[in-house]
Amino acid sequence: MAFDAVIDVQNVSKSFGGLAAVRNCSLRVERGSITGLIGPNGAGKSTLFNLVAGNIVPDSGRIVFDGRDVTGLAPYALFGRGMLRTFQIAHEFSNMTAMENLMVVADRQPGETLVSNWVAPGLVRKRDHEVKQQAADVIDFLKLAHVKNELAGNLSGGQKKLLELGRTMMVDAKVVLLDEVAAGVNRTLLQDLAANIERMNRELGYSFFVIEHDMDLIGRLCDPVIVMAQGEVIAEGPMAEIRANPAIIEAYFGSPVAVTL
Ligand SMILES: Nc1ncnc2c1ncn2[C@@H]1O[C@H](COP(=O)(O)OP(=O)(O)O)[C@@H](O)[C@H]1O
Ligand SMILES: [Mg+2]
Repeated sequence: MAFDAVIDVQNVSKSFGGLAAVRNCSLRVERGSITGLIGPNGAGKSTLFNLVAGNIVPDSGRIVFDGRDVTGLAPYALFGRGMLRTFQIAHEFSNMTAMENLMVVADRQPGETLVSNWVAPGLVRKRDHEVKQQAADVIDFLKLAHVKNELAGNLSGGQKKLLELGRTMMVDAKVVLLDEVAAGVNRTLLQDLAANIERMNRELGYSFFVIEHDMDLIGRLCDPVIVMAQGEVIAEGPMAEIRANPAIIEAYFGSPVAVTL
């Protein structure tokens, strides 16, 4: 299996001014995995995600996605190939219902071009129907049917997170990047969110790459877990091993001794 990594980051570096935010990082997200990325604040996790998702271009190194070199490709191009990341539901979407928030994400909506409306109204109606059915399926999968016609702005914090996750299910995703998706979500809803990520992984075959501060959540969801500190990957393995590694504890809690492994 030559391409068993869905994301393969090879010797990637990125500096901002004089600051090396990501230093010669290499890591892989295996297809079908839920891979965690942890590390203290300022470790370079979000920068690494931005590099992978095409929001910023590396100074050096390569990013391979699904077997192809995608270094320097823009986010929309990567999105089109199935690299998705969640975003908080933007202000303008809060006045749309939960269902509508899903339906606007669907790709290839011929109803959106005037020409196709005029040329093939039947096709547009058929596609609209498909998108609506898909949105209803996602709503059911996430157990949000009771709020499907609520305005997104009126949903609870946890329900909004589920809806964000649902938006990634409206397109053909190969990997979903989650950057601190659980921040500010209460314990109960966190369990729902985690359960849905697990179901999307096991039942629907999604791969995930997850940045998270909640170590219990990481421990439950992710294998392997990759640790970054000061712009570098310092360890990788199952959470139980990571937790038992003194160098990682140093990286988290600060120590005058430089962290090396
Ligand atoms: N756009 C930017 N411009 C300048 N410095 C940045 C930028 N983005 C991140 N940094 C710096 O890069 C380092 C890594 O940040 P970040 O990737 O956000 O870390 P993490 O997500 O692990 O907390 C930090 O020192 C941060 O201040
Ligand atoms: Mg961050």
